[in-house]
Amino acid sequence: MQPDSQKTNTSDPTGNRPLIALRKVGKSYSTPAGEFPALREIDLEIDSGEFVALTGRSGSGKSTLLNLIGGLDRPNRGEVIVAGVSVHQVPENALARWRGRNVGVVFQFFQLLPTLTIAENVMLPMDFCDARPARERRAHALELLDRVGIAEQADKLPSALSGGQQQRAAIARALANDPPIVIADEPTGNLDSETSRAVLGLFRRLSDRGTTVVIATHERDISGVIDRTVELVDGTVTAGLSAATGRPEQGGE
Ligand SMILES: Nc1ncnc2c1ncn2[C@@H]1O[C@H](COP(=O)(O)OP(=O)(O)OP(=O)(O)O)[C@@H](O)[C@H]1O
Ligand SMILES: [Mg+2]
Repeated sequence: MQPDSQKTNTSDPTGNRPLIALRKVGKSYSTPAGEFPALREIDLEIDSGEFVALTGRSGSGKSTLLNLIGGLDRPNRGEVIVAGVSVHQVPENALARWRGRNVGVVFQFFQLLPTLTIAENVMLPMDFCDARPARERRAHALELLDRVGIAEQADKLPSALSGGQQQRAAIARALANDPPIVIADEPTGNLDSETSRAVLGLFRRLSDRGTTVVIATHERDISGVIDRTVELVDGTVTAGLSAATGRPEQGGE
């Protein structure tokens, strides 16, 4: 066992314990005008298998919050606990590996490597984490591409694909090491509305299979596809709205 493998099986399939917990999290950025508080006193819990949308105006802190959950950045205050691991305390040299196994990341601009084929892009995280024998990696990549509906694009370069196809490839790449969590920052920001719906549908199915999915989004009409909305206003969570009722689930003010 590698010491940093961090036991992903701490994800609790019964949902009794939150898979993601933020406690009194604060994050400030240093600016020429002084410290700017991007997040203040965030308390948030997300259960295993939930599909949560972070919403709020531009600058409200959505990307900052996602980056803390994914271990892409560190808080100044408070705790970020993901699958039983205190992410804010994982040493820098172990963090990339922890992320590689536990968090699949999807970006607004896809960020596929342009000189690698689609299949090679999907194999990259497997190579990085040595997650499965090298001879099985391509077959697994093809399986994932099939799951997101673009198996026939496997040997093309990203530039030969449409935006929607590139985003599907990026989702397949995020799933390469079968992470318990997928985070996505405005994953539909560059897609037309029909393609956006298809991509959100992919996330929905992932969540139905037990993956915890957290996205930051400006999409308006998502209540039918997500489990819960968490709205940010000026770096604070105002309410978690249940998709089913549209009413606050916690706090409620
Ligand atoms: N590296 C940085 N340095 C200084 N300030 C930053 C930095 N990154 C973000 N901020 C500030 O922190 C606040 C939150 O930014 P964040 O990117 O999280 O917002 P967001 O909700 O994702 O916005 P958008 O919808 O436009 O993507 C903003 O006011 C932003 O200007
Ligand atoms: Mg953002």
